[in-house]
Amino acid sequence: MSNEIDNLAITLAKRPQGLPRITDFAAEARPLGPRSAGAIRCETLYLSLDPYMRSVIAGNHMGHGVDPGDVIAGEAVARVCESDDPEWPVGSLVRCHSGWQQYSDNPPEALASVPAGLSRPSLALSILGMPGLTAWAGMVDLAKVREGDVVVIPAAVGGVGAMAAQLAKRAGATTIAITSGEEKRRIALESLGYDHCIDRIEEDLEQALKQVAPDGVSVYFDLVGDPTLTIVAQQLSIGGRVVLCGLIKDYNGDHKTTGPHPGLWITKRATVNGLVVYDYEPQRSTFEQEFVPLAEAGELVANEQMIEGLAAAPEAFCELMTGNNHGKVVVRVGE
Ligand SMILES: NC(=O)c1ccc[n+]([C@@H]2O[C@H](COP(=O)([O-])OP(=O)(O)OC[C@H]3O[C@@H](n4cnc5c(N)ncnc54)[C@H](OP(=O)(O)O)[C@@H]3O)[C@@H](O)[C@H]2O)c1
Repeated sequence: MSNEIDNLAITLAKRPQGLPRITDFAAEARPLGPRSAGAIRCETLYLSLDPYMRSVIAGNHMGHGVDPGDVIAGEAVARVCESDDPEWPVGSLVRCHSGWQQYSDNPPEALASVPAGLSRPSLALSILGMPGLTAWAGMVDLAKVREGDVVVIPAAVGGVGAMAAQLAKRAGATTIAITSGEEKRRIALESLGYDHCIDRIEEDLEQALKQVAPDGVSVYFDLVGDPTLTIVAQQLSIGGRVVLCGLIKDYNGDHKTTGPHPGLWITKRATVNGLVVYDYEPQRSTFEQEFVPLAEAGELVANEQMIEGLAAAPEAFCELMTGNNHGKVVVRVGE
């Protein structure tokens, strides 16, 4: 491969204030240059866009962040295009933290294999990747979802919500989506198989929940924070299980979730768990062994929203942080 070619990279132009804007990002053609000794050069094929990146570009995601001028961080499926490492030969499909760029040089220990037999590599970023593992951790490991449960899932058709719904359904639970807009309602009910769907903008959430869950909610997988968290928590049944996983509205920096008064957890005899998906890395291969065959057999729906071209990533990310995505957002960077 010629070292003369340019590497298209998307960098942080300035830290966003509130909702991110396209002008917070810059596209740069950087000379690729020679590969450093021992590094494995990868060509990005699919890039994952995730809400946590809003905290990364704010400079405060669990102890790390990116600064203005840096390439935006992000996970990708990539193809090895230069390597001296027999464990990662040229042509291998890998998961890596390439960031928002066409080519990345990675130490071998930072690469992970894309499961063999995946007909669509992007699945390793959606239902079979980090969002899917998060859903499994929340629904199966922490909430221990079971037959008869009444499960509420906000951000219902996104990367985590879509898989969480299917796991709950497979366990025999009744599933209630909270989402927004007609398109997402259709996806929730017709494609992902939710039993009920509530529009968080058009409907009164408290009243709508009373209608579809008259005996209360036994599992709430919180992916969004307040006001949804506090409203759903008030309708927990006794012994309800809550998994705290995301605070989408707070990420843009102009909202602070407080949640319900702790007295509510006491009266409901609730179990409340916090979830950080990084803790579940050791279980990833077990997760893949169980769910890759199901996905390949067509028994799981991957509700991906495919964006064409790296240059479109900033706009797609701004839309994601506004809630205007309608599935797990993946950018197709190469073929
Ligand atoms: N703790 C962990 O380890 C971990 C791991 C992965 C993800 N997460 C968290 O899980 C949540 C879901 O992640 P995801 O990747 O599956 O995202 P996503 O659902 O694809 O996208 C976010 C969705 O949030 C919903 N939303 C609700 N209120 C919103 C608001 N005020 N502004 C913007 N959007 C709003 C929107 O869906 P509707 O229009 O359908 O409401 C939007 O599409 C995020 O909070 C994420 O940070 C946590």
